[in-house]
Amino acid sequence: MPDNALEFFQAALAEMEERRKAVQLGGGLERQKKQREQGKQTARERIEVLLDEGSFVETSVFVEHLDTNLMAGVEAPGEGVVTGFGTVNGRKICVFSQDFTVLGGSLGKMNAAKIAKVMDLAVKVGCPIVGLNDSAGARIQEGVDSLSGYGEIFYRNAIYSGVVPQISAILGPCAGGAVYSPALTDFIVMARGSSYMFITGPEVIKSVTREDVSFEALGGADVHSSKSGVCHLEGENDRDVLEKIKLLLGFLPSNAKETAPLRTSRDTKNRKTPQILEIVHPDQRKPYPMLEVIHTIVDDAEFLEIQPDFAKNMICGFAHLGGQSVGIVANNPRFMAGVLNIDASDKAARFIRTCDCYNVPIVTLVDVTGFLPGVAQEHQGIIRHGAKMLYAYAEASVPKITLITRKSYGGAYLAMNSRDMGADVVLAYPNAAVAVMGAEGAANIIYRREIQKSENQAATRAEKIAEYKAAFDNPYVAASRGYIDDVIHPEDTRIHLIAHLEMLHGKREERPFKKHDNIPL
Ligand code: HXC
Repeated sequence: MPDNALEFFQAALAEMEERRKAVQLGGGLERQKKQREQGKQTARERIEVLLDEGSFVETSVFVEHLDTNLMAGVEAPGEGVVTGFGTVNGRKICVFSQDFTVLGGSLGKMNAAKIAKVMDLAVKVGCPIVGLNDSAGARIQEGVDSLSGYGEIFYRNAIYSGVVPQISAILGPCAGGAVYSPALTDFIVMARGSSYMFITGPEVIKSVTREDVSFEALGGADVHSSKSGVCHLEGENDRDVLEKIKLLLGFLPSNAKETAPLRTSRDTKNRKTPQILEIVHPDQRKPYPMLEVIHTIVDDAEFLEIQPDFAKNMICGFAHLGGQSVGIVANNPRFMAGVLNIDASDKAARFIRTCDCYNVPIVTLVDVTGFLPGVAQEHQGIIRHGAKMLYAYAEASVPKITLITRKSYGGAYLAMNSRDMGADVVLAYPNAAVAVMGAEGAANIIYRREIQKSENQAATRAEKIAEYKAAFDNPYVAASRGYIDDVIHPEDTRIHLIAHLEMLHGKREERPFKKHDNIPL
């Protein structure tokens, strides 16, 4: 060992520590203070909240920008993004967290390289990738190199879609093309009041269309949760967003080759659900809270609703049944009578496909009269959008269980995962009605002449409606053809669903060879 070895190591160690400290400080204390004053956490604080304590291991620590063009001599400690891996509830994940204190978290070539590298790592080891977005978009100083950086990320978002779960938190601005990386991932979770997403901001909009709109009203969390359907979950603040992401991860496998995780629960598998008799209204025209039906059935009454404020006529979300993670798709008779419209179809189709690519069985609760009639819906393409639901159910090869809670008519009967669309099992309550349409509409069409000719039209109409009801307003015609496997007592709902889920565990269903599918978009 040379005489000065110790001295050399001490100097090298000191330099390493100094460089690391500079990276960890990011844009400095002043900018961090500003970040906190805006109700936001710093990039590293967010990682600490997301990951199990002490589990974070940073990657690409000393990466720097290329010092070219307008970036020559510019300080950007950490390159504006923190990347690495760790665990959430003991399960591996990869993470990147954009650092707004460094050039507004803007994305340049090497910043993108850090993100791409950790995305590649996630796919190599088969674990989810969570992106914590807080960035002013393309780094203007780097010109086309920053666009190239976005390209590298978008490409990976698309190629890795369905390989490992990808979740995006939006915790600050997300403008321009930057919104498209989150939009290509499986889930977007936004912080209320401190995050926004748009393609062009208020100023550009004003100069082009003369519309006056604030950042919040244009692309805040509430707008994307209720109007555009871009956002899947909303959090009150950074911490709440990160907690919701942890919850979400608990329902998903680490990659598409794994089965959805099982969870232990004290909620017994043979628990009766007599409350359903009080919840499901016997009168076909009366609304009732389908969410309460769901809470009654699932383990510990815990249901994570996805897009709860968008297309409220359709409920989508995750729960556990007998410990098995499941995706639940349900009509909501409380909103627009649970009818299928464009937004509801898009919402359900996307959710069904998400469940299918990550091996989460799907339980469908049906109470629907049909697709929404109307010129606007037709002209906006209800045919194209409704087709997505049909497609998504048929395509899904995970276990699929359907329960008709009250009525299931016409095209909506098929769109809500009927036997012929690939349901593994279809159950119905004794009051369920399965028909081409409601008895009144049906009688008016097929007995129109008889009714018109009759001296007492009202009495004849009532008689014909009763005839149609007797013939089809029950589950037994469908059951006699095998379209319904069993008519069950509502108090045994949980028991039946869990028994079928357990039977279907490990289900494999092959499809004919194809390059990839061509879902109507
Ligand atoms: C480099 C940027 C930057 C950018 C902001 N900064 N935007 N640096 N590239 N795009 C720097 C600022 O100079 C400042 O540096 C720091 O980040 C914080 O910015 P502020 O403006 O002080 O913050 P704030 O007031 O909170 O406003 C945030 C903001 C605003 C609303 C996001 O910064 C903004 O409008 N930025 C431009 C957004 C934009 O047009 N991006 C390009 C979109 S186009 P200092 O040193 O003072 O702290 C795009 C194309 C992608 O993204 C295409 C992909 C296909």
